[in-house]
Parts: sequence; structure tokens; C-alpha cells
Amino acid sequence: MTEPQRVHEILSRHQLADGFPMVVDLARSHGSYLHDARSGEEFLDFFTCFASWPVGYAHPGLEEPAFREELALAAANNPANSDLYTTQMAEFVEAFATRVTPAEYPHHFWVAGGALAVENALKAAFDWKAHKLGVDVVDDGNALVVMHFREAFHGRSGYTLSLTNTDPTKVELFPKFDWPRISNPKLAFAGDGSLLGDPEADEARAVAEMEEAFERHAGRVAAIIIEPLQGEGGDNHFRDEFLAALRRLADEHEALLVFDEVQTGFYGSGQPWLWQTKGTAPDLVAFGKKSQICGFYSNGRIDEVESNVFRRSSRINSTWGGNLVDMVRSRRFIEIIEAERLGENVAARGVQMVEGLRELAADRDQISNVRGVGSLVAFTLDSAGLRDQVLSDLRQRRLLALPCGEATIRFRMPLVVSEDEVRLALERVAACVPSGIGA
Ligand SMILES: Cc1ncc(COP(=O)(O)O)c(C=O)c1O
Repeated sequence: MTEPQRVHEILSRHQLADGFPMVVDLARSHGSYLHDARSGEEFLDFFTCFASWPVGYAHPGLEEPAFREELALAAANNPANSDLYTTQMAEFVEAFATRVTPAEYPHHFWVAGGALAVENALKAAFDWKAHKLGVDVVDDGNALVVMHFREAFHGRSGYTLSLTNTDPTKVELFPKFDWPRISNPKLAFAGDGSLLGDPEADEARAVAEMEEAFERHAGRVAAIIIEPLQGEGGDNHFRDEFLAALRRLADEHEALLVFDEVQTGFYGSGQPWLWQTKGTAPDLVAFGKKSQICGFYSNGRIDEVESNVFRRSSRINSTWGGNLVDMVRSRRFIEIIEAERLGENVAARGVQMVEGLRELAADRDQISNVRGVGSLVAFTLDSAGLRDQVLSDLRQRRLLALPCGEATIRFRMPLVVSEDEVRLALERVAACVPSGIGA
């Protein structure tokens, strides 16, 4: 066995290894606690592998012998799920499509990786729009565009690079498409949770920009894509009314409305999908992270085009069509989340975390804009420098969190998080941002 102390040194010899300083001990980590094999310390994990690990470590439901056997069989093989089917795959697809996806969305596509989930949703939209316009009109699709938003993060693959606009390091120097980018009317919350500023005016400005872009790209907008809560861009929330306006515009201009729920979906908000709490139903939804398997699902609007990507072979595909081990694990997660009502749990813990942070903010001038839903909670600090300092202090106090936006700290809690663990996290935040400083 490799000594944990040597892990970083070995990795660094062969790759960029500038991640966390700890080495996760997968056997000793448990529940909401990540065990560092290097120091023996335990970290309260409000990072959850970039919001991708839903039920905590060593969940008893993942240790059951029957599940282990099933997992081992899948792991000892690697079928090309797109074309070679298994009973394990059928069990996963049925569980996901009937218990997680709402009934109005009959079509699914599976792939490995969130960026590729978004990428393939865009391909579905381009294909749909090209057929709507007439394939001889669209110059092999080259004139089609995707409307997207400032501070969006949709991934780092071919198409998604043209949409992502958070940290310039992630996209600069790579060729990109010049697609219409719209202001994001993100919300700012006061200490009591009410809205600051004039969100309606911000939304009106964004809608005006969209109308202008629809005119400029007359008939060529295949899709409007948005994260219903922007993650990496700053944990930016939007009013339900704004998402409803996007729905109206997409319908008026014959574009598909795509929600990127790679970060927010699969019970992150407490509901299977964040959009279900927002009152607007999209056409396509990209998912990934906590669902393990990534991909997108679609409502019947895609069927307005007869030869759409779900009917015509080879339009969207990949060798493995996802990964069978992920499918087996995802199906088990669905069973665990339902049996233990983890959606309800994390919804309540999100309220507790937001309320606790708002109480803290009342007495700490450096903390503002506390916001969140379910596992997805954030607050903003006075400056990027202070944010980085607090994030590093939190790690010293063995609480893992993530940065986002300019000066924000975001938490991504496991769905199993307990009331006591949220209380502990709040104590650690309080210790890192002492009252009276910076006031
Ligand atoms: C909203 C959103 N979309 C897409 C992605 C890309 O997912 P992946 O890193 O799995 O390619 C992410 C990753 O953080 C994301 O947060």
C-alpha cells in the first residue's frame, strides 16, 4: 500500500496535483466526515466533491453485500451501454426515469461528465431548430446560436466553453463561438431575507437585451440556457418571475428552454430538481454530479421534429453511454434518498443553515447576502482577499467549503447532514469571522 504521505509527491511527478492537501481515506471517512489519511484528522465535508457526493461516506446502504456484489460485477466489466444492454442498466433507467424525472419528460440521454451532458442537450436543440427552419436554410447549422447569461458556468468542453464566463483562466485562448450573452439579474438578499435593489428593473433590462438578440439573430436562436441557480458564477439566485419570462420568450421565438441542473439537480435543493420549486418547466434539463450518471432529459417539444435526436440513430452518442458502475450506484442512491427522505432532510437543514448564517451576519458586518436552498447555501464577504482567508481558516478548523463568484463562500452539504452538524459548521464559521472586525 502506498503511504498516504507520498501521494502528492507521486502524483506531482506525473501530473498537476494542486488540489486539496489531504488524502481522502475512503475506508475511514463516514457520514458527513472526510477522514484525512495523511493527518488522521476528520473534516466536516460541506464541499462533497464539488456537490457530487450525495449520501455521505460509508453509507450503510452502500455496504450491503447484495449491492456490493452487483457493483463488483458492473465494475469488473464496462459494457458499451449505448448499444449493448444489461438488466442492471434497465433497472437504473427505470428507477431514474420514473422516480426522479417528472412524467412529462419521456426522453433521456446518458453520458459521463456534466459538460458533455450540456453539450448534448445543445446538440439536441441545434438539431431541433435546424429541422424547424429547414435543413437547407441553416448552412449546415453554422448560423445557429445559444442565448446564455453572464457569470454562467456550463463546463469546459467544445460548445460549453462559449457559454462559460466565470474565471477567464478556464476559457481564454481556446477558440469560441460569439453567441449572445445576456445580463444575469441576480438577486441580493438583505439580512432578513428580503430582496435588495430593484430586481424587476434588472430583469426588464435582461429581457430587453434578449429581445434585441432575438432580432439580431433573427430565427437562429436554438436555445436559451440557464442554471436556475448559478453555482460557480457566485451562487446567484433568480426570481421565479424571471424564469417565467424566459419560458415566454423561448415559446415566442421558437427556441428550446434548457436548464443546466448539473450542480443543483438530484435533490440538491431538497426536490429532485430545483426547477420544480421555481414554477417554470423547461424543455431540456442537463444533469450530472450527484446523479453520478450525467445526461439530459427532454419533454415532448422535441417531438415536434419527427427525426429528432431521440429517434434518429447516431446523432448523439458515445462509446460507453455513461458508465454501468455509475448507473448501479445511482439507482442505489435513489433508493436510499427515497427510503430515508433525504430530500426533506436537506431542505430543512438548508433553512437551518441560512437562518444561522443570517443570525451571524446580523453581528458581523463583513458577511452579507446570505442565501440558499437545501444543500446549496452561500454568503458573501467584503473582499476576495477576506473570502480566501476565511476559506483557509475554515479548513484549519476542519470545515470544507468552496469559493465562487468574486467574494463568496458556498457550502454544498451532503443530503444526510444532521442538525448537529449544521450547528457545528455554524460555530466554525462564527469562529473564523469574529464579530467586531471590519465593522
Ligand atoms: C452548472 C454546471 N454545469 C456543468 C458543469 C460541468 O460538469 P463537469 O465538471 O462534470 O463536466 C458544472 C460543473 O461544475 C456545473 O456546475
